[in-house]
Amino acid sequence: MFRRRTGKNKVPPSDKISGDTKHEEERLRAEFEDAKVKQLIIKPRSKRRNGFIFMLGGIFGIFIALFFANQHEVISLDLFMDLNLDSWIESIPQGIVSEVKEFSQRERDTVSYDSFAVGLHLRSQGVEAKHPIVMIPGVISTGLESWGTGENSRQYFRRRLWGSWSMMRALVMDKAEWKNHVMLDRDTGLDPPGIKLRAAQGFDATDFFITGYWIWNKILENLATIGYDPTNAFTAAYDWRLSYLNLEVRDRYFTRLKSYIETAVETQGEKITLASHSMGSQVVLFFFKWVESEAHGKGGKDWVNKHIASWVNISGCMLGAVKGLTAVLSGEMRDTAQLNAFAVYGLEKFLSKEERAEIFRAMPGISSMLPKGGEAVWGNSTWAPDDQPGQPLTFGNVLYFQNTNSSLTQRNLTTSDSLQYLLDHSEEWYRNQVLNSYSHGVAHTKREVEANEKDPRTWLNPLEARLPLAPDMKIYCFYGVGKATERSYFYQEEPDPLVNLTISMDTTITNNEGVDHGVLMGEGDGTVNLLSTGYMCAKGWRMKRYNPAGTKIKVFEMPHEPDRFSPRGGPNTGDHVDILGRASLNDLLLRVAGGKGDLIEETFFSKIREYADRVQIFDEE
Ligand SMILES: *[C@@H]1O[C@H](CO)[C@@H](O)[C@H](O)[C@H]1NC(C)=O
Ligand SMILES: *[C@@H]1O[C@H](CO)[C@@H](O)[C@H](O)[C@H]1NC(C)=O
Ligand SMILES: *[C@@H]1O[C@H](CO)[C@@H](O)[C@H](O)[C@H]1NC(C)=O
Ligand SMILES: *[C@@H]1O[C@H](CO)[C@@H](O)[C@H](O)[C@H]1NC(C)=O
Ligand SMILES: *[C@@H]1O[C@H](CO)[C@@H](O)[C@H](O)[C@H]1NC(C)=O
Repeated sequence: MFRRRTGKNKVPPSDKISGDTKHEEERLRAEFEDAKVKQLIIKPRSKRRNGFIFMLGGIFGIFIALFFANQHEVISLDLFMDLNLDSWIESIPQGIVSEVKEFSQRERDTVSYDSFAVGLHLRSQGVEAKHPIVMIPGVISTGLESWGTGENSRQYFRRRLWGSWSMMRALVMDKAEWKNHVMLDRDTGLDPPGIKLRAAQGFDATDFFITGYWIWNKILENLATIGYDPTNAFTAAYDWRLSYLNLEVRDRYFTRLKSYIETAVETQGEKITLASHSMGSQVVLFFFKWVESEAHGKGGKDWVNKHIASWVNISGCMLGAVKGLTAVLSGEMRDTAQLNAFAVYGLEKFLSKEERAEIFRAMPGISSMLPKGGEAVWGNSTWAPDDQPGQPLTFGNVLYFQNTNSSLTQRNLTTSDSLQYLLDHSEEWYRNQVLNSYSHGVAHTKREVEANEKDPRTWLNPLEARLPLAPDMKIYCFYGVGKATERSYFYQEEPDPLVNLTISMDTTITNNEGVDHGVLMGEGDGTVNLLSTGYMCAKGWRMKRYNPAGTKIKVFEMPHEPDRFSPRGGPNTGDHVDILGRASLNDLLLRVAGGKGDLIEETFFSKIREYADRVQIFDEE
């Protein structure tokens, strides 16, 4: 049924980290620049189609797609075109499941290339477990289990309605019930009456998403090799659907995290290494503010300095991502726009864009990833910090409207305009959820920053809240660069009167100004924009008001050099999620956990420092 393009098990040499010869680094840099230029000129019309995504895509691809964007072609879609759609869709439960199982087995075989290798190598160099490690996973990658005992929930008891085959089955068999389970109550932002979904706990919660789709597994393998086990490593899984304060209200998440860290420091006699991925980075920042707050964690002003040795921040989306905006605006993003017509049909049939937007809005945690910093960071209607010379359409407009014949599409919208647009055109409960939980602005003076210490809405926005006073802590920012990432979109008034959305993506636009199916690509790691992954580390935290105690920041960018034959990009990928399996990332993380982080040298490949200087946020005199 599926045509596969399986790769030879070719294992490229893993890249070296410290001690790189100058030569090697220059070569990489040159290649990287070269690739980037090509990408921008020829525009990223990749022929590889999103095989893995589509296969799940017909069913629930959109969720995977949100953050596990752009897998490589493993299965070609063309064969489907000949099949009768309806009979195919009926056969999905059995057919797809067995196909997918086989697929994941294959994938497991192809990714087992260097299990444990990095850890073994470091152990031979004398790197050993030192700091207890706490891992904070990203959005979506944590499984959610049903614990409700109501009539409708019993059949799902302790099944994962997120991140497992049970999820797919529930979605296919009884979509309405599944939606009731995963969507939170609109007004309270907590569980709806009679329904209870909780984050799965332990390493199992995050090491694999769906069987075979590893996330943290590789890091665990390598950590174990240098001496980590459940006594000194811990995954702090959370229910990413909740807004951050509600994590405490419902689950006492931050209280538990605090007490776990305190116990570990006491029993192991070493401070903690925190490793966070994606949205986890925002959770960590929020936790730091929360734990030191008089009104909340009551840990005291120096809690972070006393307990945290270093914070390894992997692909953190500190300033949000533009796809977070379109996901809640119309349930769309590049991954849906650039599917072929057939895949779109399948996806819309299972979960229409209207339903997707509805679901995303009913998960306030997703809205924490709306872009932050407004026009100062993301650009205004004529200009953006990351615009390339000679670029026809500025990235400063996030939503472009080509036709202006409707009152809904009067002008092109910048980041701040689009946020306002979203709030103006959504229901009151959603507006309240967002405005009561998050803040998206910039604090331009020290006074404003200090005033925000008391305002939890600003705690996950690093442009409004400062780092804790932790002069001894170290922050490591590791992220991928050089993978095309969506930056702006073409929208239109929704043409279908049956769809209850005001505007939706105009996927008919593909032109030589770099627009492909209504999406304009910029720089990043494939999911999160470079401005978001890089700005705070390259510039923001080097300003006194955001980092008053002078916490040391070290950046290590990793260029995206995927292995063509590996479905997950192989050991040198820079992809947002797959980077967790990257050999050099594992190497760096182990060094930090082993107390050897000082030897890591700061490494830049992208032009983030140049862009950061153009961002309209300045140090006070
Ligand atoms: C956009 O920002 C740039 C840089 O600050 C500025 O030069 C330009 O005048 C601004 N454009 C508009 C329309 O405000
Ligand atoms: C706006 O114009 C476009 C093309 O000119 C057309 O397809 C669309 O239906 C128009 N919309 C309205 C609301 O008139
Ligand atoms: C938005 O920008 C595009 C490209 O510059 C332009 O063609 C279009 O007319 C603009 N739309 C509006 C509503 O101003
Ligand atoms: C469409 O959405 C609006 C608000 O966005 C809501 O009030 C209305 O009930 C919805 N209509 C349908 C048919 O779902
Ligand atoms: C985490 O890393 C990202 C880049 O990967 C960066 O934008 C963000 O500011 C970092 N946050 C912290 C707190 O280090």
